Amino acid sequence: MKMPKVSAGRAAGVTLKRLHKSFGAVEVLRDINLQIAPGEFVVFVGPSGCGKSTLLRLIAGLEDVTAGDVFIGNEDVTEKDPSDRGIAMVFQTYALYPHMSVAQNMGFGLKAAGWPKAEIAQKVSDAAAVLKLTDYLDRKPGQLSGGQRQRVAIGRAIVRNPDVFLFDEPLSNLDAELRVGMRLEITRLHRELGITMIYVTHDQTEAMTLADKIVVLRAGKVEQIGAPADLYEDPDNAFVAGFIGSPAMNFFPAVMAENGQIAVGDSRIAAPPLTQPPAIGTKITLGVRPEHFEIGDNGADPHALVFDVEFTEYLGGSSYCYGTTGNGLACTLEAPRGLKLPAGHRTPLRVDTRYLRIFAADGQRIR
Ligand SMILES: Nc1ncnc2c1ncn2[C@@H]1O[C@H](COP(=O)(O)OP(=O)(O)OP(=O)(O)O)[C@@H](O)[C@H]1O
Ligand SMILES: [Mg+2]
Repeated sequence: MKMPKVSAGRAAGVTLKRLHKSFGAVEVLRDINLQIAPGEFVVFVGPSGCGKSTLLRLIAGLEDVTAGDVFIGNEDVTEKDPSDRGIAMVFQTYALYPHMSVAQNMGFGLKAAGWPKAEIAQKVSDAAAVLKLTDYLDRKPGQLSGGQRQRVAIGRAIVRNPDVFLFDEPLSNLDAELRVGMRLEITRLHRELGITMIYVTHDQTEAMTLADKIVVLRAGKVEQIGAPADLYEDPDNAFVAGFIGSPAMNFFPAVMAENGQIAVGDSRIAAPPLTQPPAIGTKITLGVRPEHFEIGDNGADPHALVFDVEFTEYLGGSSYCYGTTGNGLACTLEAPRGLKLPAGHRTPLRVDTRYLRIFAADGQRIR
């Protein structure tokens, strides 16, 4: 494949040190420390209102920090204007000029900055090739699909040769199918340009598939930073465990019981080895991912967990069963291939204790 002519040239790392942001008396970001390597793809995830956009805007310089420092490359840009930071940002609403052609929209920023016409045309043409927009350069935004419009917005950012690309939920206005397509496009773009990308989303599938590194935010604080697989396999707490993964991890309130057992309602499961087992009677929460159940014979154990099937979602390669445990807790499990679990069916349920997660009452992971 031919290498694209559009190139960021110098991907820059980003470092955030002790960043705080308040709007009036309301603190929305607290002590954010983060190191992003040059060329890395970092995704900020978290529930609505947790501060993702604000953090991105602090990096862009669209908001002033309350305290702390922002470095891009080795340079402290905390006091710099957005236009002097070597960044380009793509927003959820792409805000194209309706009366301008695709080419004019993409070149607008360069024209405003006084670039020569021929150079603008070259850059626009290069960006259009990367984004597969070459055939659409003369169209108006109104004549494009949502995905094509979002590509124009990305093109408008690419022509500026940024060191760091910032995206704030760029795909959330697209329908499901287009989102998947654009997700792959953005991955390809990242690979081809080799540029640092920081991407905000509340869609954890997007986060898992795009990121080298995910930053999970909650209420203005970093909960955990790690590669997608680290967060999935090794979450620090119940919040991260529940946020990463789809369908989500199952959580069962439980109590440490006698004889190395854990009580889940009136069911019992064998406790896995614990370095510091909580005292008998301590309330804990069990976390089990849908793929970590086993179904079938429990040797007539009267205390076995059971699963009452409510409905099954057949997805071709896999199926998910939704239902409740015998003691009424909502439960989702991935059904083994070929196993039919009809609605109303009750089956003994075992937990593969190698993967059993245990959380303390404060949500911190014990195991
Ligand atoms: N200009 C502002 N003035 C006052 N409060 C603000 C301002 N901008 C954001 N906030 C508040 O800061 C918090 C974080 O907002 P932010 O937009 O960063 O959240 P978010 O994680 O991007 O959410 P979403 O997923 O809904 O986009 C929210 O409580 C919001 O109400
Ligand atoms: Mg936001």
